[in-house]
Amino acid sequence: MDDSELNASELGTFDYWQKAYTTEIINYDEHGDPGEVWFGEDSAQRVIDWISTSGIDKDISFVDLGCGNGYSLLELARRGFTNLIGVDYCPEAIMLAKKITKEEFPSIKYKLFDIIKDDLSNLGTEYGIVHDKGTYDAVSLNPDNPKENRQKYLEQVTNMLSNNGLFVITSCNWTDQELIQHFSEKMKLKCVIPTPQFKFGGKVGSVISSVVFIKK
Ligand SMILES: C[S@@+](CC[C@H](N)C(=O)[O-])C[C@H]1O[C@@H](n2cnc3c(N)ncnc32)[C@H](O)[C@@H]1O
Repeated sequence: MDDSELNASELGTFDYWQKAYTTEIINYDEHGDPGEVWFGEDSAQRVIDWISTSGIDKDISFVDLGCGNGYSLLELARRGFTNLIGVDYCPEAIMLAKKITKEEFPSIKYKLFDIIKDDLSNLGTEYGIVHDKGTYDAVSLNPDNPKENRQKYLEQVTNMLSNNGLFVITSCNWTDQELIQHFSEKMKLKCVIPTPQFKFGGKVGSVISSVVFIKK
């Protein structure tokens, strides 16, 4: 795995997410505000469009790693996906996601699960799609052992996937090329979901990267 690490940030800590979701629960209860859509609705919708127009069975088993407020799960349920589970290590995130999605889609399941520390026997394996938006980023920003944690993350995701299962990741801290380098050890690149690009100093780059891998 690549040696270079991101600069540590509070976004990589459990305390940050617990405080953030505690506030978001209050905002939701008082004003019906579902809270932050990380990296914006456009980037979430691009991935949801890709998943829902790629000929994937609507009953494929789908797990959202670090589901936060459940936005991606809700949008996929609205597109007809029926076998959805969201996991997060923060109980307040699970509480918020349940509040937001339970009336419209009581069938979405949730589980408290730490992708780095918990055993997969608590979550199961053979998922057809493992989805991540911003959670690998949070793991990478953790001040303690980011490199070891990224390796553990890679192993857990690989073991969670069925044969030919898809791993769909969106990051705003790692480029497409960095993600490909990190995950190619255990997965094959399927495609990069096109995202708007910018040019700076003669180099073309994306602010947000969404990449799809297939289990080797
Ligand atoms: C940037 S937020 C993204 C939330 C959601 N995926 C979205 O796009 O709105 C990162 C999420 O990852 C969760 N998270 C961070 N580290 C985790 C870990 N080790 N295991 C499970 N969830 C984790 C946080 O609680 C938070 O909900």
